[in-house]
Amino acid sequence: MASTKLLNDRLALVTGGGSGIGRAVCQALAREGAKIVVADINENAARSTLQSLPQGEENSYIMEIVDVSQSQSVNNLFTSINQRLCQVPDIVVNSAGITHDGLMNEMTEQMFDDVLNVNLKGTFLITQAACRLMIAHKIKIGSIINISSIIGKVGNIGQCNYAASKAGVVGLTKSVAKEMAKYGIRCNAIMPGFIDTPMVVTVPEKVMTHFKKLTPMGKFGKPDDVAEASLFLASSKSNYITGEVIEVTGGLFM
Ligand code: NAI
Repeated sequence: MASTKLLNDRLALVTGGGSGIGRAVCQALAREGAKIVVADINENAARSTLQSLPQGEENSYIMEIVDVSQSQSVNNLFTSINQRLCQVPDIVVNSAGITHDGLMNEMTEQMFDDVLNVNLKGTFLITQAACRLMIAHKIKIGSIINISSIIGKVGNIGQCNYAASKAGVVGLTKSVAKEMAKYGIRCNAIMPGFIDTPMVVTVPEKVMTHFKKLTPMGKFGKPDDVAEASLFLASSKSNYITGEVIEVTGGLFM
């Protein structure tokens, strides 16, 4: 009997796939039959994700090392995917992200640039390269999913660089959605609230308790909660949704 998985024959590129939300996204999309490119700047992290994926056919899952903030590295990534898989990614999840927190008056130019370069410029570079290829290969069912943050909506003390980058991701998402709709490529964003990943382990306990109290559901999210929303946006279940921002926050700052 033919398999009825949601993402059969699709190829998903997941940046930041080596950890946290990106890893859970790789696992959720693989479960639904997608081939996966685990792309990360951290080789060991990417390998761990690769090893966590179900044993599939040869070449169903590969890993690639990339620095999403560098255009040359992004170009090399797509060249390598083409050589190794002979297929263009038609699902792209931009999950690579960093924080470098500090109060605005104490923030260095470097701290600002580093965060913007990975979170916003990196999302742009990957999205642009992927869309160009999808158009050139006449792929008509593309889905780009950008992981923003609820902090991009409400701001946060000590995170003006991060908040700016994540608000920027929303503007980028809506613009890409408008430009790419005619090619059949959808582009949406997810704004997670506090999700239990390595990224939040450095957040002081006091701050975590404060945000937990503010969250109507009274708990932090899991990477899987974001992954399931990504799966929906990647699949044909969301065929008529583009330029949308889905908040996965347990109700925080709704
Ligand atoms: P994480 O720190 O667990 O994973 C981020 C991954 O991105 C790491 O594997 C890291 O090696 C990779 N990465 C960093 N810089 C890179 C670069 N230049 N090129 C390629 N890969 C790079 O973080 P987490 O929590 O999984 O975050 C994923 C995304 O979700 C990020 O964009 C983050 O801003 C966003 N987010 C996370 C929230 C949370 O509470 N954990 C809340 C809201 C948004």
